[in-house]
Amino acid sequence: MTILIKNIKELLQVRDENTLKVSGSQMKELPSITNAYLLIEDDTIVDFGSMIDVSNVKADKTIDATNKVVLPTWCDSHTHIVYAGDRSQEFVDRINGLSYEDIANRGGGIVNSAKTLQNTTEDDLYNQSIQRVKDVMHLGTGAIEIKSGYGLTPDAELKMLRVIKRIKKDFPVKVKATFLGAHALPLEFKTNKQGYLDQIINDMLPQIAKENLAQYIDVFCEKGYFDLNDTAQILEAGLKYNLIPKIHVNQFNAFGGVALAVKYGAISVDHLEELNTEDIKVLKDSNTMPVALPSCSYFLSIPYTPGRQLIDAGLPLALATDYNPGSTPSGNMNFVVSTACIKMKLTPEEAINAATLNGAYAMGISKQYGSITKGKKANIIITKPISGYHYLPYAFGDNHIDQVIINGTII
Ligand code: NIG
Ligand code: FE
Repeated sequence: MTILIKNIKELLQVRDENTLKVSGSQMKELPSITNAYLLIEDDTIVDFGSMIDVSNVKADKTIDATNKVVLPTWCDSHTHIVYAGDRSQEFVDRINGLSYEDIANRGGGIVNSAKTLQNTTEDDLYNQSIQRVKDVMHLGTGAIEIKSGYGLTPDAELKMLRVIKRIKKDFPVKVKATFLGAHALPLEFKTNKQGYLDQIINDMLPQIAKENLAQYIDVFCEKGYFDLNDTAQILEAGLKYNLIPKIHVNQFNAFGGVALAVKYGAISVDHLEELNTEDIKVLKDSNTMPVALPSCSYFLSIPYTPGRQLIDAGLPLALATDYNPGSTPSGNMNFVVSTACIKMKLTPEEAINAATLNGAYAMGISKQYGSITKGKKANIIITKPISGYHYLPYAFGDNHIDQVIINGTII
């Protein structure tokens, strides 16, 4: 099946196959073709160019994109989209004066979600989660990383990872799975943290490796959760099973987690709302992608990741949602891109680079996703008629997407 998209007002993020991420001042550039066409064959981008050269191109289906912008789908490199129930009561508690920390200290937060998930069947968890997956696909997400971490027992962590595996099999969206057993300390290990770390290392990891349930390993490296020593133990154990680190770090406190992650070859370091000059220095000598999660900052009213500072230091930056029931109950990458421009002062070009190509890099898939490149997967957003791509982040909160194509399938 071939699909020809013609009369495209502007085709964005046109790259050769060698550009796997963009850093620093490169992020200001968003290569494009105006008055363009794009040709898809099955699940692959096979050709594109100026309408002037389109005369010989034949296709099974033709889409007219007059006045519309076409770009690669969003690559959301950090989510917890598989969860059970919600935490809207904690949202109200925060409005009434409790902090995120207060709520966690009285047994709410991550362990609250874990209790709900432990009492939810695998099928129910799958059904709740795919509703959200379908929603984000319609919002233009074509590749997604999904973490475990709301199980916190061997059975419940495996249940989450098996649901992620089913989503991967059942939907055209590209899925990468991350094992986040070290997300919070379960109540039964309150006075025995090492006992829980041993359970992750000796019980959970071997089974996850055996069933090939994850590609990445994550730790919530934060005061009151897991310290540098705990994080090192988990990352080291994960590496024995070829699980690459991709960690939550510097959300509330900066205490050396970034350097530790880089030392263990992390593909990304995520959150970074708190950042010091040492962190920036370490990242400059690495291949690790910094990832900002502006919807989390918005929802919790915490500082935004200093994305401007990172880019101005010559570093790359990716943007992701952090979709989860506690700190970010939203998987809308369009809102993320707008908020990055409005609150972090990224230019539209920088934000789109961060949400496509660099997002793909942050989940290890930028050879096949994240740009309009011959041979890459046919993951495409077609906007409604708009004045130009600046309109996408500018007119925040509205849906400007007309059609989404994922893996060659019109959604
Ligand atoms: O990335 N910070 C750790 N984990 C999630 C939030 C977890 C929760 O509150 O349920 C995050 O923000
Ligand atoms: Fe997260």
